[in-house]
Amino acid sequence: MRVLVTGGAGYVGSHTVDALRRRGDDVLVLDSLGHGHRAALGDVPLVVGDIADEGLVARLLAEHGSQAIVHFAAHKRVDESLEAPGRYFANNVAGSLALLRAAVTAGIGRFVFSSTCAVYGAPARLPVDESAAIAPENPYGASKAMVEQMLGWFERAHGLRSISLRYFNAAGAALDGSNGEDWEGAQNLIPAVLRVAAGRRPEVQVFGIDYDTADGTAVRDYVHVLDLARGHLAALDHLAVGGASATLNLGTGQGASVRQVVAAATRITGRSIAAVDQPRRPGDPPAVWADPSRAAATLGWRAELGLDDILASAWRWHEAHPEGHLGPEWSATLTAPTTASTGVHP
Ligand code: WQD
Repeated sequence: MRVLVTGGAGYVGSHTVDALRRRGDDVLVLDSLGHGHRAALGDVPLVVGDIADEGLVARLLAEHGSQAIVHFAAHKRVDESLEAPGRYFANNVAGSLALLRAAVTAGIGRFVFSSTCAVYGAPARLPVDESAAIAPENPYGASKAMVEQMLGWFERAHGLRSISLRYFNAAGAALDGSNGEDWEGAQNLIPAVLRVAAGRRPEVQVFGIDYDTADGTAVRDYVHVLDLARGHLAALDHLAVGGASATLNLGTGQGASVRQVVAAATRITGRSIAAVDQPRRPGDPPAVWADPSRAAATLGWRAELGLDDILASAWRWHEAHPEGHLGPEWSATLTAPTTASTGVHP
């Protein structure tokens, strides 16, 4: 299958690109490199550009002969979105609209969208299924909910079928430690805990110890990035055989508290991890975990990896690449010849 992947140089995107290439798909990546790293792509063709450039995207789709689009490109920091909502709606919503218009121009009829459980906000019922109220509590989640709505209208008007995948807490790395998430930009719990295990931070902050949960700390559904990548391939295959559009949770269906994550990381890394109790972080729901049964029924997808696999793989990645993709071992790949600002990196 010939697939254009936007944001394919990013965290979940690069693992999905790798899975597509391993099974023989023909991938072209469009990425602004605002968040992603060329080093994460190896020799996969990359065009450095913006999804908002409708003419560029339409040209790429036509020249590549793309049969489908997987759309990751987005800003994704919840805290940043609360400070700069305009930036998030411009990039995540208006940028996605330009991408969709280019897709229609190029006659693309299959679209997989990287959405998020943040569209639910603090769900009233757990586990949360796809029928739950859409009540985002930040512009990041709101921007994703808006794109999901646009997809429905683009199907009605243009026949563009789509699968929106609502990730829960993406974490982990390639099992051989060859690719993973860059720590420094990440505010998330698992990179924060492993930074302490690696001695790069003195302690991890535990945001809230008075939640109505088993140990008082907040609960989340941590899902391995490799399981997420597999979910995108299953979504593409579903659409390729004429499957109907759907919105699906990608989570394990299991919750883990902050304290449980710290304890598991201590066990997996063999390092002591100092934790300091802090007040709750504004906007954090007490507990969120998925009902993933619709993804199982629609795609035959289930998470296969658990929290220990997440922590072990992430630890392996960061031990091998303490500076993430900015480390010295990647610098050689950064001098790859580029024909133009939007030229294809060979
Ligand atoms: C997890 C828990 C924190 C850091 C993320 C993404 C969002 C969406 C869902 C994909 C919370 C606590 C954190 C720390 C802590 N995914 N925490 N100390 O907020 O659930 O949302 O997953 O789109 O985009 O942001 O993830 O890892 O920041 O927090 O106590 O240093 O860990 O309060 O309860 P979150 P997170």
